[in-house]
Amino acid sequence: MKIGILGTGMVGQTLGAKLAERGHEVMIGTRDVADTLARMEPNQYGMPPFSAWHAEHPSVRLGTFAEAAQHGETIINATNGTGSINALSIAGETNLSGKILIDASNPLDFSRGMPPTLAVCNTDSIGEQLQRAFPAVKVVKALNTVTAFLMVDPALVNNGDHTLFICGNDGAARTQVNTWLGEWFGWRDVIDLGDITSARGTEMYLPIWLRLWGALGTGMFNVKIVK
Ligand SMILES: NC(=O)c1ccc[n+]([C@@H]2O[C@H](COP(=O)([O-])OP(=O)(O)OC[C@H]3O[C@@H](n4cnc5c(N)ncnc54)[C@H](OP(=O)(O)O)[C@@H]3O)[C@@H](O)[C@H]2O)c1
Repeated sequence: MKIGILGTGMVGQTLGAKLAERGHEVMIGTRDVADTLARMEPNQYGMPPFSAWHAEHPSVRLGTFAEAAQHGETIINATNGTGSINALSIAGETNLSGKILIDASNPLDFSRGMPPTLAVCNTDSIGEQLQRAFPAVKVVKALNTVTAFLMVDPALVNNGDHTLFICGNDGAARTQVNTWLGEWFGWRDVIDLGDITSARGTEMYLPIWLRLWGALGTGMFNVKIVK
């Protein structure tokens, strides 16, 4: 499948590498291709610059947000949550319309230091903002509650027996994304939370995720819902 990933960070790189490995035609989108390739400093997680990653993954194409959105039959939003509306605006409504957009973003605001605060919560979410701004796009919130390495390989923790949440207004799109999460990455326990307002809950999970990260000293963990 042709997949367009908006975002050059840890999530875009990790998803891009795994999806290309699975045989998909992946294009990653950025604001400015030349600028992104020219960056030489490590990113905020101390990872090598995008150009170093790209040199090791030549089958993954790099383009503008608009080119990646045009390329993808399905789109993944892996941009900074506070910039996601801008990223999709640059990608262009006509390049996105009618397509499923898997939204992995979180509304983290680092402007007041660590741990980050939520830029939106309680009565709204990035997922809802994207759906309102782009009504012809089928936004499905998913993957935002686990670290990037677990997104693509849940078996790295507890043999893959832990829980992921999805939500979105289009039931058929949710079912499709649920199937892809299993086929692409091996997710077995996916709870469908219904419409996109549930993104408030999965995005507001981030403050406790961040505290667990600090307490456990690793991002390689997840929750398992039992009843
Ligand atoms: N890191 C994780 O393990 C993890 C796990 C779960 C969820 N998430 C969420 O996934 C998303 C991506 O995270 P990340 O760590 O890979 O990278 P990130 O640093 O949060 O985001 C990088 C991407 O955001 C774009 N961006 C930043 N500000 C923008 C703006 N004002 N307008 C348009 N685009 C903008 C950048 O564009 P350029 O390419 O042009 O610089 C870049 O492609 C975030 O929302 C994050 O909260 C991350």
